[in-house]
Amino acid sequence: MAILVTGGAGYIGSHTCVELLNNDYDIVVLDKLSNSKIDSVNRVKEITGKDFIFEQVDLLEKKKLEKIFTEQKIDAVVHFAGLKAVGESVEKPLVYYRNNVIGAIVLCEVMKNFGVKKLVASSSATVYGTAEQMPISEDTPLGVTNPYGRTKLMVEEILRDLYVSDNAWSIALLRYFNPAGAHESGLIGEDPNGIPTNLIPYITQVAIGKLKEVSIFGNDYPTKDGTGIRDYIHITDLAKGHLKALDKVIGSSGIEAYNLGTGKGYSVQEVIAAFEKASGKKIPYKMVNRRPGDIAVSYADPAKAKRELGWEAEKDFDEMCRDAWKWQRNKMNGFY
Ligand code: NAD
Ligand code: UD1
Repeated sequence: MAILVTGGAGYIGSHTCVELLNNDYDIVVLDKLSNSKIDSVNRVKEITGKDFIFEQVDLLEKKKLEKIFTEQKIDAVVHFAGLKAVGESVEKPLVYYRNNVIGAIVLCEVMKNFGVKKLVASSSATVYGTAEQMPISEDTPLGVTNPYGRTKLMVEEILRDLYVSDNAWSIALLRYFNPAGAHESGLIGEDPNGIPTNLIPYITQVAIGKLKEVSIFGNDYPTKDGTGIRDYIHITDLAKGHLKALDKVIGSSGIEAYNLGTGKGYSVQEVIAAFEKASGKKIPYKMVNRRPGDIAVSYADPAKAKRELGWEAEKDFDEMCRDAWKWQRNKMNGFY
């Protein structure tokens, strides 16, 4: 039984490949390497001591995708491939709709033609838009505020229509909160292009001396210290959530959305303090204006994933900071 992992060279995909291989799944990885490097594929092999087929293919190249399904016995798909930068999606909406929405459609067309109807797909907490009720459960009304978020919501809706048309499909929509950290080996982690836009990779680059200081986007939110609160989830916990979702889709049919988060929120200042502890470095910061589009607080109600998938986050926040730091130091020391 082989699982096709689209976007498997990327941040979440590579960590999920490690968990799949460690649990004796055969995998075939597809990635066009637009936001990742072949090194991460090689390191997944190094961490697990297992080999697998890697295809450098764009999801939109239908013929090449069909060739993979013809040559390999694919039983289910874990779909990560996508573009994910909110700001860039505002600048280049058509690129985002083509890649993320058409990419998902092409994938489902090929799956349908080959009779493969089991799918675990990356969604995002971004589909909750500016939710005000905390914690956020899966039945919170959806609403998006940017093209990236809209691609995620559109794909969710397309997949729901697909299920309505054919009840043999079995689909899990995983709504991630804020993935962070790295594999405990320090061999794979998040490798953003250019200056990071997300908080934790930005902090790690300040700690290593690559960037000068963290800009805290707003200290006038109605939170305990005025800074924004998020639900940061260790990347290995997130990866394990995909295995549980895969168990579910393999054993049943239907379509369900699940929050993958810890249920706990940390403020920007708490994140900085925890990272100072993990790294032993002082993290300089300054207060600046709010970032447009940001909300004050976001954290998950992860009860549905616990109840229906038997999954919950296990690693704590300090471990996440330690692993993020280990990965950053390895990279900086010329290890990669
Ligand atoms: P990533 O950029 O590290 O990985 C995505 C991978 O997909 C990259 O390796 C890229 O080369 C590949 N890719 C993109 N378009 C492709 C295409 N058309 N064909 C083949 N390969 C393609 O991102 P990630 O953080 O691992 O995110 C994985 C998924 O999870 C994405 O769908 C993203 O929207 C979603 N997500 C991520 C986060 C996050 O914070 N990282 C949060 C919520 C949801
Ligand atoms: C961002 C994306 C969201 C995506 C998520 C995945 C935006 C608007 N949203 O969410 O779509 O699903 O990443 O990880 O980009 N912060 C600072 N200084 C910084 C960076 C961030 O103070 O340099 C603050 C933010 O205001 C926020 C918190 O840190 O309160 C987390 O920010 P970030 O890591 O960018 O994630 P989100 O904004 O939650």
